[in-house]
Amino acid sequence: MVERRTVLRWGSAGVLGVLLPGGTAMVASRLPARGGPRSVAASGGPPRGAFTVPLPVPTVLEPVSTAGGVDRYEIRQSVGHQSFLPEVSTEIWGYQGTFPGPTIVARRGRRVIVNHRNELSVPTVVHLHGGVVPPRDDGYPVDYVQPPGVPADAMQAADSRYGVAGIATGSREYVYPNEQPAATLWYHDHRMGFTGPSVYRGLAGFYLIRDEVDDALPLPRGERDIPLLIADRTLDEDGSLFYPLEDPTMHTAGVTVDYHHSGMVGDTVTVNGVAWPVLEVDAARYRLRFLNASNARPYRLELDPPPPDGNGFVQIGSELGLLPKPVLHDMFVVAPGERYDIVIDFARYRPGTRVVLKNNVGQGDTAYVMRFDITRRVGDDTRIPATLTAEPVPPPRTEGSADRRFSFFIGPEGVKGPPMINGNVFDVRRIDARPTLGTTEIWDLTADPMHPVHLHGAHFRILKRDGQPPDPQDAGWKDTVFVPSGGMRLSVTFAGHRGKYLLHCHNLEHGDAGMMANLEIV
Ligand code: C2O
Ligand code: CU
Repeated sequence: MVERRTVLRWGSAGVLGVLLPGGTAMVASRLPARGGPRSVAASGGPPRGAFTVPLPVPTVLEPVSTAGGVDRYEIRQSVGHQSFLPEVSTEIWGYQGTFPGPTIVARRGRRVIVNHRNELSVPTVVHLHGGVVPPRDDGYPVDYVQPPGVPADAMQAADSRYGVAGIATGSREYVYPNEQPAATLWYHDHRMGFTGPSVYRGLAGFYLIRDEVDDALPLPRGERDIPLLIADRTLDEDGSLFYPLEDPTMHTAGVTVDYHHSGMVGDTVTVNGVAWPVLEVDAARYRLRFLNASNARPYRLELDPPPPDGNGFVQIGSELGLLPKPVLHDMFVVAPGERYDIVIDFARYRPGTRVVLKNNVGQGDTAYVMRFDITRRVGDDTRIPATLTAEPVPPPRTEGSADRRFSFFIGPEGVKGPPMINGNVFDVRRIDARPTLGTTEIWDLTADPMHPVHLHGAHFRILKRDGQPPDPQDAGWKDTVFVPSGGMRLSVTFAGHRGKYLLHCHNLEHGDAGMMANLEIV
């Protein structure tokens, strides 16, 4: 049973929201994709007041030093305040007190060192999602950064013996080699058992890697290269973030039974920290780096109206860099943790057109994401070359039978059974697989019915989806994939570092409840 809640909405006067009862009452049934996305039923139109607040773009963090070929950054993890809705101040946890956190822009081949200072009241862990990073800097969930004056409890101390980097007090330096192609990565909290609530409160930001291959392409850049962090939230009537913690003191992990199966799905879609924003665009090409940083909600995005001949989304990159050639889409699914590097040519619309970015598996308010308002014709000397980058090395292994199988199981709705991988709940002490560095394995993944699966320490290509050839949107190197009930076959390449890494569900509530496994790359 989902409890009826009172939630804060857009006000009729556009100031403080009127209180609409029952806004989240249907939240569990709004979840798309029980065995496949379904289209939105007749909708009541966009949420009142939507598309009035301009899209913010997260600030790019300045290094404190660039000496010795290393870019050094300092980040404070602190309480901040955010207006998800106009004139409503919501307390968040943020990198530099902001949500999204500041964007770090790294150069391929130049090391980045980020010193994270924990000024929050809880332990934190930072993971660079998509980064090829040695285990000690990867943010293993028990490699805690304790707030000063808050000693690790007995459980943390016991678990951390099976961690990689040990417990730090106050701050930790994370070292990122950036020896990988230009790509859209992100950094976020990964604390054992509490990744869901910590990311939900705001601990997430972009980390972009640039390189010469990407720079040399005539793609949109500068103000027309925009990262979009999509995240759903639910605000309580006092403007605070609603999160269904079972233990409000956050000593024991877990959400209430009504959110156990779905994960935390909210009723308000935010982009770069603002609900249903609007972006005024020139009639020109824009590079939009989509990240689904939602805890649990997948989106299937489409443009309304679509451009005259369709194919409004030109995908130029997957999660880990440029595709060999662009791929065209009318819509694409982005599951929690996934990124899509997309160019939209707004010159295909007449100035004055308002194009809504819709989530066609959302219902009611969650069927809307943001709007692009096309303002004026301009000269545009960008283009999308037919060849973007060379075929990646090493080529994926495509032949042979599965080397490993992983099943992701949460069980029936309404039952708080443990989420499991291959029948096991996560145990920091247990190694679940030992792949060898320098090899490529074939993995078969299955899910009941769908889980967004993320792998640390290795990247993969999709060989099969539901037993069939992959979808166009499955192209390229990936680190996260929305595994359907019919399963997925991957070619997984271990080309990074030796050591202990995670394989887990990026439905953060599933991961927190135990849908994680340990890999030791040997
Ligand atoms: Cu984006 Cu293991 O996480
Ligand atoms: Cu899951």
